[in-house]
Amino acid sequence: MNPTALSKYRPFPPVSLSDRTWPDQTLTRTPEWCSVDLRDGNQALPQPMSVEEKLEFFDLLVRIGFKQIEVGFPSAAETEFNFLRRLIDENRIPEDVTIQVLVQTREPLIRRTFEAIDGAKRAIVHIYNSTSPLQRRVTFSDASRESIKQIAVDGAKLVKQLVPTIPNTEVVLQYSPESFSDTELDFSAEICNAVIDVWQPTPEKKMIINLPDTVQWATPNIHADMIEWMGRHLQKRDSLILSLHTHNDRGTGVAATELGLMAGAERVEGTLFGNGERTGNLDIVTVALNLNSHGIETGLDFSDLQSIRNVYERVTRLAVPERQPYAGELVFTAFSGSHQDAIKKGLDRREIELKTGPEVPWGVPYLTIDPQDIGRSYEAIIRINSQSGKGGVAYVLDREHGFDLPKTMHPQVGKRIYDLADELGRELSIDEIGEAFFREFVNIATPLEVTDYELIHHTTERGQVQCKATITLEGEIKKIEGFGNGPINSFVHALEKTGLKDFKVTDYRSHAVHGGSDASAAAYVQVQSDDGRILWGAGVDSSIEMAGLKALVTAWNLLRM
Ligand code: KIV
Ligand code: ZN
Repeated sequence: MNPTALSKYRPFPPVSLSDRTWPDQTLTRTPEWCSVDLRDGNQALPQPMSVEEKLEFFDLLVRIGFKQIEVGFPSAAETEFNFLRRLIDENRIPEDVTIQVLVQTREPLIRRTFEAIDGAKRAIVHIYNSTSPLQRRVTFSDASRESIKQIAVDGAKLVKQLVPTIPNTEVVLQYSPESFSDTELDFSAEICNAVIDVWQPTPEKKMIINLPDTVQWATPNIHADMIEWMGRHLQKRDSLILSLHTHNDRGTGVAATELGLMAGAERVEGTLFGNGERTGNLDIVTVALNLNSHGIETGLDFSDLQSIRNVYERVTRLAVPERQPYAGELVFTAFSGSHQDAIKKGLDRREIELKTGPEVPWGVPYLTIDPQDIGRSYEAIIRINSQSGKGGVAYVLDREHGFDLPKTMHPQVGKRIYDLADELGRELSIDEIGEAFFREFVNIATPLEVTDYELIHHTTERGQVQCKATITLEGEIKKIEGFGNGPINSFVHALEKTGLKDFKVTDYRSHAVHGGSDASAAAYVQVQSDDGRILWGAGVDSSIEMAGLKALVTAWNLLRM
């Protein structure tokens, strides 16, 4: 920012709360959740949802497990009113779900809201008016604190009067001092206490005091101080449910919510993936999964996050960013080599540990949760680009293609594949990695190719094998044969007799290719050339012996490239 511009900003004043207790709290239980997607989220959309889309979204929220859903602002527009009536008249609200409706503390709007909820089994009537000095001065033309308080009290009285007019609906009452985040704390307490005074909640019939971080002006610790301060200064605290409603202007909606819960709040309003005005509302998915990651049950089911995201993106016409916690495309993908190595080791170790019992705590480097818990798969975890390490390629070849490469082969294969990613200037898909491995390291047959072989086990000399093979060298077919204590040795002997041996075999491994549909064997042969170069070749064949010969021939050919 231009330094001269800074003179127009001021630090946010701290709360004097030297005996604050929230920093020593840990989160041990879930708050009540209220989705405000259909109201705060919807009103922030460039193209608001249609009634049909809202219905689909409502059903999605129910499936996720929300028990409180703010369905709109029914007095604000006919479509909002009609949507709510459809929910009620078509019996679309499950028994255990409470709808919530927002309304300003203005008489005609409150009356219309009661018409809208009539017949619902249970509804939260959420009234609000704006309280901050900035709003009082600018929006309400220098309105006094007293007049702002009177608006809240009058609204609360009218609501109280209207509750008995809809006897078939159980009404829960909620008040928000909108712009709480920059309202003087003593005034927030004064206005909330005045509303509490009107509504007279009891521990058996609590009311909700919602403290909106309408615009984030302060750091999350100051927000937490404000919440703890309010909890101490509200009357009838045991008859209240203290609720948070954070936005994300400073990018700290989640942090402010988590610290606010430590500071005594019991309820959280927010939206899926943080949709909402400006930088959005609190992302409930993140807070809930953060709690899950500490072993806390939330009642919200994000086990198939991708399908939730699909509905969300379709009906809101917004995209979930690639780095969005938990839901983003890239959040379970490691590009850097050291991360890939560590993840591979963590997943491998976990697989071994799980064999000893199911209660092994999660512990994979760089992954705060098991991606499978939210419907993501291991396959997508590691992707390869030019920044990746040898472990990443080996991991993909192992998990995705069934090739368990010897450790000392990883650098040779890894380097070639990263060079390829570098040449292409992009990451490689899992299929491309498999194709490149085959193209560069498996069954390479020029200039030398082994086309046929026969092994004859001699009974006279123990362990001795005779290998008769047909090879093609630069198009010329040759029959060769040699002796040794196994297929590779006898084939090497045959090459030696033909004048083709300028190397020695330094390592050999083989295994059945796992996961593939057709049963085949993979073999890896490491050779050292007479001039000191060491490299691996791989062979794949339905016969394990032929796979070994092909691996050796591949290594022989690679020495000449
Ligand atoms: O952000 C806000 O202050 C609101 C209130 C109406 C609760 O959405
Ligand atoms: Zn809001």
